[in-house]
Amino acid sequence: MAIAATTTAVTHPAEGAFVEDGLAKLKLTLNAKAQSSTNSDTESVTTEPTLVDPYNYVGETFGSGPGEDYPYPEFLPHNPPRTHSDPALPLYDITDRGHFADPDHARLRAFVEARGGKIKDLGICVGTVIEGDVKLEELGEAERDDLALLVAQRGVVFFRKQYTFSIEDQRALGSRYGPLHVHPTYAVPRRGDLDDVVVVYSDKNSRPDLYAFSRAELFHSDVTYEVQPPGTTILKLLVTPEVGNDTLWSSGYALYSSLSKHFQTYLESIKALHSGFNQAASRTAVTAIPRREPIETAHPVVRVHPVTGWKAIFVNAGFVTRLIGVPKAENDAVLAFLKDSFAQQTAGDVAIWDNRVVNHSATFDAYPSLRHGLRVTPTAEKPLSVAEYEAETGKEAKDWLQDRFERLGISGPKADDGKTKSKAFRD
Ligand SMILES: [Fe+2]
Repeated sequence: MAIAATTTAVTHPAEGAFVEDGLAKLKLTLNAKAQSSTNSDTESVTTEPTLVDPYNYVGETFGSGPGEDYPYPEFLPHNPPRTHSDPALPLYDITDRGHFADPDHARLRAFVEARGGKIKDLGICVGTVIEGDVKLEELGEAERDDLALLVAQRGVVFFRKQYTFSIEDQRALGSRYGPLHVHPTYAVPRRGDLDDVVVVYSDKNSRPDLYAFSRAELFHSDVTYEVQPPGTTILKLLVTPEVGNDTLWSSGYALYSSLSKHFQTYLESIKALHSGFNQAASRTAVTAIPRREPIETAHPVVRVHPVTGWKAIFVNAGFVTRLIGVPKAENDAVLAFLKDSFAQQTAGDVAIWDNRVVNHSATFDAYPSLRHGLRVTPTAEKPLSVAEYEAETGKEAKDWLQDRFERLGISGPKADDGKTKSKAFRD
């Protein structure tokens, strides 16, 4: 399943983005100090690296670590010893802040324009960048609510050069959107008081094991095995190489829209099992006692975003183990199709994405360069099936592409004419 893949924008790689329709690929900007002092691509690898499977790898320093002069030692991954696991998470009553947004993001737009910037879409179905001298920590409550809607509609929104956006600011913004999720197994920052922050880290001592994973399998949505998986999620990268180790986002709205009505109806009728057991098992060498015991949760394969009302495919190769009520042979074919479809679609400083409606992946292509980031992960509602959304709201759940065509005054695609199609594009 291919969605048009045309490179539409290229900016300086250290601060920008290049985007292909359907997939947003963004280079998150470096902190110049960290880049120059610690992240030379020509730095020699002096110790034997640990081979890691990025699918299971969850933030660890191996070997000598990043060195004495590393500027962010307090944010390096840490696994405090535990004597027991915490209880299961409570159920939260979540009202999405996007419900309080201006439908045209007018407050956010005015804030951005007052600082010489604009809100600029990067692709048709996913990815928007906020340009101008905008400091995320200065957004007021109204602008933050408008941002929640923008992220829900665009899948992922980028803010560049957020050097003054501290981890405290990041947690405050996340808390506006929902109770911050505490990861059941991941490392936390060494600082010791940031249990609700996820550390993303790899360096020259952790080499991706290309025999352990395929790129399609790396597309995922975060911690979807939770009963209430995260929504408006905020990642700030502290250090990345100048080229490579990008993060990609792929739209579940667009994937749903690309399918036949028959297949959409089929997928709307089933649930998928999301499991935290594999991730927990991959961590037992590091933390024998997890922060919380792993769980499995059945979620609808098609979920409806509570604010946009658009249907999105909510399946990811990272955590979905099987479709419920579907025989194994059929299950394998359908899951492989959906998994590959996410990977075949085509998209600094800070990225904010809606974990409910996009999958994402790091490219893991810049070993031995160092990549280090911090993620804050607000909890969202229990995923709503189409039937649940329509019963709860009295509104009809919508198809993103049909909605777009209606706005543009375009009538829907014609029915299949039943004739053989010539195949292959030739140039
Ligand atoms: Fe992730």
